[in-house]
This record gives sequence, C-alpha cells and structure tokens, in this order.
Amino acid sequence: MEFDIAVLRGDGIGPEIVDGAVEVLEAVGNKFGHTFRFHPYLMGGAAIDATGEPLPQKTLEGCRKAQCVLLGAVGGPKWDGMPAELRPERALLDIRSALGLFTNLRPARLYPALADESPLRRDIVAGGFDIMIVRELTGGIYFGDRGYRQGKYGEEAYDTECYSPVEIERIIRAAFETAMKRRKKVTSVDKANVLETSRLWRRTAGKVAEEYPEVELNHMFVDNAAMQLIRDPAQFDVIVTSNMFGDILSDEASQISGSIGLLPSASMGVGTIGMYEPIHGSAPDIAGTGKANPLATILSAAMMLRYSLKLPEEAEAIERAVDAALSDGLRTADIARNGETPLSTKEMTKGVVERL
Ligand code: IPM
Ligand code: MG
Repeated sequence: MEFDIAVLRGDGIGPEIVDGAVEVLEAVGNKFGHTFRFHPYLMGGAAIDATGEPLPQKTLEGCRKAQCVLLGAVGGPKWDGMPAELRPERALLDIRSALGLFTNLRPARLYPALADESPLRRDIVAGGFDIMIVRELTGGIYFGDRGYRQGKYGEEAYDTECYSPVEIERIIRAAFETAMKRRKKVTSVDKANVLETSRLWRRTAGKVAEEYPEVELNHMFVDNAAMQLIRDPAQFDVIVTSNMFGDILSDEASQISGSIGLLPSASMGVGTIGMYEPIHGSAPDIAGTGKANPLATILSAAMMLRYSLKLPEEAEAIERAVDAALSDGLRTADIARNGETPLSTKEMTKGVVERL
C-alpha cells in the first residue's frame, strides 16, 4: 500500500531524530511492501527564519492533505526572545489546535533492560510498569484567555484555565476506550480540592464512567499523582488529565522509565489525521552533535503505523526491534552508563534497522 506522510523536522535535534525514524519507516516499507511518501514542511524556528512565521499556511495545508504527520521538535535559544505569537512553540500549539488533535497518548513503560537506568529503587520497578497517559491537548490553560491587567499589586500577568463539559467528556471517553483495550483501569487526575475546572472534570469523568461498567475509575489529586508515580508506578494503567497536568506528569513518567529520549506520543482528534512526535524537546545543547536518542521518534513512527495507517503488525515489528536493540545493550548517551561508549543517533538507528 501507499501512504502520504507530512514530515515536520523542526529545530535542534528535530532533523536528526526524524531522519532516524524515516530510515526505519523505509526499512519497514521494504520489508512489508509498502511505499511511504514523505512530504517535508517547515515548522518552528526553521519556518520563522525562512518565512517569518512559525507555522506557515503551506505547512498546515500540507499536513491536511497527508494521512498523518511525523514531527520532530521545535524551539531553541535563537528564538527565545521572540514575542509569544512568533515563538516556535506557538506553531506546536497552533497545529494541534488547527488539526483538532485533542487526544494525546503518551505511553510510559519500563523496558526491563533499562531498569537500572530508572532513578527509582530497584524494588519499586522490579515488577515493571506500563502506563498510558491520556493528555487533553487543545484546551485548558494553554488555550485560555491571557494577558496583562491591573491587579492588587499593580500590573499583573494572567492565564486562564477553562474547560467545557464537551471537551472533558471527549477526552475522558478516549481514556475509557483506551482502558478497554488494556487493563481496564482509569485514574482521572485533577485538582478538584481547589479548581472549579477540576470539579467539573471530576463530575464529568464520573458520568462517562457509567457507560463503562467494566472499567474501574478512581480520582486522584495531581500532587498526589506526582507522588504516586514515583512511589508505586505499577498501580497505574490509564491516567487521564488536563493539558497542563498531562504535560508535567508525562515528563515525570518518562524519567522514571529511564530517559525522556524514549517516550513517543500520538495526537488524535475527530478527523482521521494524527500527529506523532516524541515528548521531548529540541535539546539545542546537543543539536548537531549526533548524540540524540532517536528511539522516542522511532517509537512515535510505530504509533503512527498503528493508529493512523492501521498497520499493527508493522508497528509491532518496530517496537520489537527497539526492544531487541535495548536488550542487546545498545545505548545512546542519555541511557549509557559510566564507562560505556554511547552510540550516535545514526548508529542507534542502524541498530534498530538491523533488528527489524
Ligand atoms: C510537550 C512540550 C510542549 C507542551 C511545549 C514545547 C509547548 O512540552 O509536548 O510536552 O507543553 O505541550
Ligand atoms: Mg512537555
């Protein structure tokens, strides 16, 4: 079969890691007899430099024409001084919103081969863990009203968290649907002891839960969730939460699994188009050094095959190859131990391709 994939390599290590994922996809294509057509577009700082805008219209149109989008990372010190509307990160928020990608799946699991890389005590991670964070991606404080106004102490900046029942319901439903295919447990994370949006979130989660009698729902405050993730990560199956809490908890979850360089993500919405990106950023400090770990992007490509292109066997082939590479001791700098010589981005990619 033939597939059209929009490719947004972005900034910093973005191009290097996306090239790795593209190489793996090409190998999968050869093995299973598919043609993946890659359509590159500019986004983030690279787009600002070339066109003056972080998300050019041409990029958005290109993404809409494709079946799915593979994204690296955006941002860097060069553009940090830009006004908010012209920062590379704006492109990320705008594309998520423009494509209606409200469901963000961020799986965090412990690879047995990496148990020693987890900062958690061995007895805590001994049984492994396998968590799916379902993050709301197009609402909440990321998209609420913001600005400056006169406050109690003179001028103040403000951001607002807002959620409607519709937005909450659809993300909670996505979490329950995900849980039905897993261990049938949903933990809804909020701050209902303080925030009104969280109280609505909690009530709405309770209502949706009635449609899924097989799934167990529990509610947890976000501060407790942050603590439980390091105290006993194995208690979680699916975690569903707001845009901001999901941003924070997914970074935490990635670290306990060994490295942020390992966590992929899938963003989906009402339409058929999906966007796939590692959860980490553009890591400007190591950009161009060839040190970046391409696995999060390679695993994002696997999610793309599974969710957007309906190629589950091909997705599993990538995931198994990554498992094998890690079990065989292949390590990039972020997961290498003292004394081990780390592989470059290209060498790690090659290691995965060889194991396909
Ligand atoms: C992420 C990132 C982004 C976010 C930033 C770069 C805007 O941290 O995808 O988690 O906060 O959503
Ligand atoms: Mg983040």
